[in-house]
Amino acid sequence: MKLNLKIWRQKDANTKGQIKEYPIDGIDGDMSFLEMMDVLNEDLIAKGEEPVEFDHDCREGICGSCSLQINGEPHGPDRMVTTCQLHMRKFKDNDTIVIEPFRAKAFPVIKDLIVDRTAFDRIQQAGGYISVNTSGHTVDANAIPINKEDADDSFYAAACIGCGACVAACKNASAMLFTSAKVSQYALLPQGRIEAVERVQNMVRQMDLEGFGNCTNTGACEVECPKGISLENIARMNREYLSAKVKG
Ligand code: SF4
Ligand code: FES
Repeated sequence: MKLNLKIWRQKDANTKGQIKEYPIDGIDGDMSFLEMMDVLNEDLIAKGEEPVEFDHDCREGICGSCSLQINGEPHGPDRMVTTCQLHMRKFKDNDTIVIEPFRAKAFPVIKDLIVDRTAFDRIQQAGGYISVNTSGHTVDANAIPINKEDADDSFYAAACIGCGACVAACKNASAMLFTSAKVSQYALLPQGRIEAVERVQNMVRQMDLEGFGNCTNTGACEVECPKGISLENIARMNREYLSAKVKG
């Protein structure tokens, strides 16, 4: 397969970036999108040119680092997959593919296609934990009965990999889907109720401090999320937040 790649190149955070064109040949439909990028980079290195920088780690949909905007969509045209799980068979011979970094004020570009997503880490650090005394006797995991539906919903919320596609998909660059998933995974479990009031307030405060936009319920985040994180989490976080304000 022959492709015409249009890729965002940016030397560093302080230099203006631009789209550059890279024709590429010999791409197999069974390759992943990142393998296609590897082929491009091998070509560039062989020609003495600088390879395109992009983030990746697990290459199996777990770490959330491979965040690319592909033809205007976070993680490309497929649904419920990350960029590393996207196959080149989703494209046709002679297609033009525009590849950009995720765009959001809170995700500044570091180089080429790599953005700084430490804003998510700081939201997580603001409340994404429970305090449990682990010295001495360890509590048996099954000692606290948990409703099956709540356990399932908590598990689905915990599937968020922090990729940032929800922010990149949102016209307001809102981080509500991410933050609500992180709030929900604890809010639904008895272990998470102890610090629930502080958690939701601290995480929402940090989200706002990072410069993410407001949620206007477009639902684009849910559509582009590779892990199927539901908008119900945003509704749950709003309830948690209002209840915390009343209690606080
Ligand atoms: S909610 Fe979905 S799109 Fe947003 S960071 Fe989590 S996994 Fe990625
Ligand atoms: S490289 Fe880890 S999710 Fe894609």
